[in-house]
Amino acid sequence: MGKTQFDFSNQVAVITGAGQGIGKRSAERFAEAGARVFLIDIDEKAGAAAAEAIRAAGGDAAFIRCDLTASASVAQAFAEVLAKAGRIDILVNSAGGFSLQLGIADTPEEEWDAVIDRNLKSVFLTAKAVIPIFQKQQSGRIVNLGSLAGLTTFNLSSPPYSAAKAGVHCLTRYLAYELGKYGVTVNAIAPGTTATERVIAVRNEEQRKMIGKSTLLGRIAEVDDMAGWVLFLAAPESGYLTGQTIAVNGGRLMV
Ligand SMILES: NC(=O)c1ccc[n+]([C@@H]2O[C@H](COP(=O)([O-])OP(=O)(O)OC[C@H]3O[C@@H](n4cnc5c(N)ncnc54)[C@H](OP(=O)(O)O)[C@@H]3O)[C@@H](O)[C@H]2O)c1
Repeated sequence: MGKTQFDFSNQVAVITGAGQGIGKRSAERFAEAGARVFLIDIDEKAGAAAAEAIRAAGGDAAFIRCDLTASASVAQAFAEVLAKAGRIDILVNSAGGFSLQLGIADTPEEEWDAVIDRNLKSVFLTAKAVIPIFQKQQSGRIVNLGSLAGLTTFNLSSPPYSAAKAGVHCLTRYLAYELGKYGVTVNAIAPGTTATERVIAVRNEEQRKMIGKSTLLGRIAEVDDMAGWVLFLAAPESGYLTGQTIAVNGGRLMV
């Protein structure tokens, strides 16, 4: 999907978790394809730098700091987008992740709540923010980042993360069910391990190669392997696809 050309001229895309990784690359690709992009992240430095880099490359980008687990912060961020752009065409929920890998018995309640909030509640809150906008426009696209960890169980995940991502896949179907009548599509991708900054920081080259060997293609994903799907699911070409989670994992799991 890396070289596919898309045209998002005159469209407004909001990308969460856009300070780094798949969200950042998706924001860059939307901007290259002509969209006006709003990058949302809790990391002010990374988010502002990502938006600045897009502007320096000639794109139209703005950063808004937001804690996606807090409803007031989310409402404020989307109100700001609406005030500046007047509409929202695409929402990409890429913020997420986990840091601790513990068994269920060892997982502190606070860790459970924090990971569920970061990965699942955040999608609920951003969806609540765009639903009235999409209803009014009678159009809109939502692309969620699920995970292979939400489709199956393996040793490189964490219980709240896997449960939250399974929830994201379910919420994707539920949102599609509710919003189809407004011309809105809602889909997700479930990535396998992808060479983002965070993955490179926590898994050394040998570990990344080992994980790659567990795929049919013999390598872990590059960020563009995921960003291409994000753009495709927001593009007119995918207009009759909704409620689906696309498993983009190099054949590591076939469902
Ligand atoms: N990379 C993979 O191998 C992989 C595999 C399967 C699924 N995924 C999913 O794909 C998505 C993107 O992955 P990625 O690796 O590109 O992510 P990432 O590098 O971990 O980036 C996520 C971004 O979201 C931000 N964020 C975290 N909590 C937030 C909050 N409460 N409010 C606003 N922003 C917040 C992070 O900021 P901080 O850095 O300050 O926390 C970070 O900038 C995630 O949902 C991830 O779970 C990734």
